[in-house]
Order: sequence, then C-alpha cells, then structure tokens
Amino acid sequence: MPDVGTTIFTVMSALAQQCGAVNLGQGFPDFDCDPRLLQAVTNAMQAGHNQYPPMAGVPALRAAIARKIGMQYGRRCDPDTEITVTAGATQAIFTAILALVQPGDEVIVLEPCYDSYVPNIVLAGGRVVRVPLDPHTLRPDFDRIAAALTPRTRALIVNTPHNPSGTIWHAADWQRLADVLSGTEVVVISDEVYEHMVFDGQWHHSALAHPALAGRSVVVSSFGKTFHVTGWKVGYAVAPAPLMAEFRKVHQFNVFTVNTPMQHGLAAYMGDPAPYQTLAAFYQAKRDRFRAGLACTRFRLLPCEGTYFQCVSYAELAVPERHLSEAAFCEWLTREVGVAAIPLSAFYGSPTEQQRIRFCFAKRDDTLQAALARLARL
Ligand SMILES: Cc1ncc(COP(=O)(O)O)c(C=O)c1O
Repeated sequence: MPDVGTTIFTVMSALAQQCGAVNLGQGFPDFDCDPRLLQAVTNAMQAGHNQYPPMAGVPALRAAIARKIGMQYGRRCDPDTEITVTAGATQAIFTAILALVQPGDEVIVLEPCYDSYVPNIVLAGGRVVRVPLDPHTLRPDFDRIAAALTPRTRALIVNTPHNPSGTIWHAADWQRLADVLSGTEVVVISDEVYEHMVFDGQWHHSALAHPALAGRSVVVSSFGKTFHVTGWKVGYAVAPAPLMAEFRKVHQFNVFTVNTPMQHGLAAYMGDPAPYQTLAAFYQAKRDRFRAGLACTRFRLLPCEGTYFQCVSYAELAVPERHLSEAAFCEWLTREVGVAAIPLSAFYGSPTEQQRIRFCFAKRDDTLQAALARLARL
C-alpha cells in the first residue's frame, strides 16, 4: 500500500509528547474507567475465564448486547446468529468490508471520513467512491449519494455520530437513505461507535431502528468508546443472519475470537444500563465547559451534536499562522501554543483546506482547563 503512511493520530500524539503539549488530538480519554468494570474483568480472570471463548464471542456478552439493542433501539436481535464480538470497531469494519466486497465492487464513503475505511476497501480490492458531505454543514447530501450509485455499488459506509464533524443522522436522514437505496442490493455499514454520545436532548438514531435498513446493515459499535477503555479493543458487529454468516467466515480466520476475560467482565458490567445511559450527560457537560472556554478565543466553533470532538475554524485568528494549511497549523499549535489537535484535511482523500481542526474533549477537566489556558492567548 504505497500511499499509506503513519496515521495523523499517531503522528500528532508523538509530537504532543515530544513538545510537552496538551494532547487534544487523538480520540481517547485521559481518565480511568469505572472501577466496577475493572473488578468485573479481574473477577473473570480469577474465575478461570482465560482460554479461547466461542468464535462469535462469549454468549453472555452477546446476550447483553442483544438486550441493550432491544432497550435502546427496539429491535430484537438473535445473539446466536446476528451478533459477533470483535477486536474493536476497527476489526468489525474491516471484517465487514472483506466479507462483502469483491474485487471491482464500489463502496461509497462520505467524506470527511474515519481514516481506516479507504485502506480497508482498497485491501479488499474494492473501488472507493468518495461522496462529499455538504461542505458547510458536513451533513449528508442524498442527491449526490443517489448520483454515485451504480450497478457495481456494493456498500455504503455511514458514521453517526460523525467523526470528525460531531454531526448526527436524524430519522429523516435514514429515511432518505432508505428511499435512495430501495431497489438496490447495497449493504449499509453503519459505524456507530459514538452511539451513546448524543447531546441536547436529541437521541441516537441507529440503522438498527430503521425497519427497512436494519435488514441490509452491518452496525458496528465499540466498548472502548462507551466505557472509556479504548486500549481494550473490544467492539461488536450486528447484522441479519445471512450477512453475519459471511462476516464470521472472515472473522474466524482473522482474529478467530476476542480476549475472554474482557468479554465476561463487560457482560457482567452491562447488567446495569446506567453507565451508557448517563454517558451523554457526562460528555455534554465537558463539551459545554470546553466550548465556553473556546468562545473566549477567536476560534469559531462548529456545531457539536454528538461524539467527543469539537471542530473549530481558525480563519479568524489574529496570528499570521492562520494562513497555514490545516496540518501545518496543527503542528504550529502543538509546538508553539502547546495544544495538539487534528487537521480535518486528514479525513479527506485529496487535500482540502478549510482552516478547520478537531479537538478531542474526552479529557479530565484539569486537562481541558490547561489546554484552554494555553489557547486563551489566541
Ligand atoms: C468513527 C470511528 N470508527 C471506529 C473507530 C475505532 O474504534 P475501536 O477503537 O473500537 O476500534 C474510531 C476510533 O477513533 C472512530 O472514531
């Protein structure tokens, strides 16, 4: 893959460390998870759950996921045939693509998009079809999506809540997509890793909640994001049984299965829905504090309906560096101001310069305060 280098997230984290900058670049919390979750995993290890689990995942965890989906989205899923536990959402997305996409098939991505999608499609031999989100609102443009469909279109990747923009899909968006896809065989790969981070009284609309789309979707989520344990790399995929059967054929020869004690621990922890049901309020409070601090700078805030990312425009800053490219501006911000961020251009295939960068606010309040104190001079 000659075009693939080290991801921007790794590059910016390394630079932040080198410069002693506050790292608001890469999307991971700098605080610990709930001690009850650690205890549940410890208990599982001590109880001897340390050998290979079933290929599709520990039954108790798949049952817990099915219960959650029933409660949150009103959909009944069969944990035996429709749910597979994966090594994070990353593996779930890659597995779905490898299972579904044949050489020459077209896969639509909505740009800007998470950086693993395109290399995954390329590795499957698929053709990447980039459809831009509306450049001003960063929301889906269904006329463009409809225009991009061809008889070779095999799949379309949706991400809601959306990284990097923080926009979410509403029920009407899913309905528009269902209308656009009706009469086609296109599969939707719906990346919903931020499903529990939707703010201001809105709620997450999952592909699983849409009767027509659920039947043609692989929905992906991540315990790393939901329970503040990104390093555990445990997630899952949900799909109708025929799609899931194909998914598992790839899964079993890729990772085969995912670490056992984490699965048992997560299953026990999920008996209480409060941790994921209160997550939106937890992150909304952080978002509000962070936005209030940024409002005292010349950064222009973009809307943030979900995720733990806040995008800003630096077009109005009173420093000459505002004319830098997004990547160069992020490097300057890290080195000279001491705060690391991610350029939005990193989420596009070809260079797009809109003077926009992304901050991650999944950080302790003192970390956010330290970053705001440094940004205040801007
Ligand atoms: C949109 C999106 N999808 C997938 C992932 C990967 O999730 P995981 O860590 O569970 O593999 C991320 C992580 O940043 C993400 O932002």
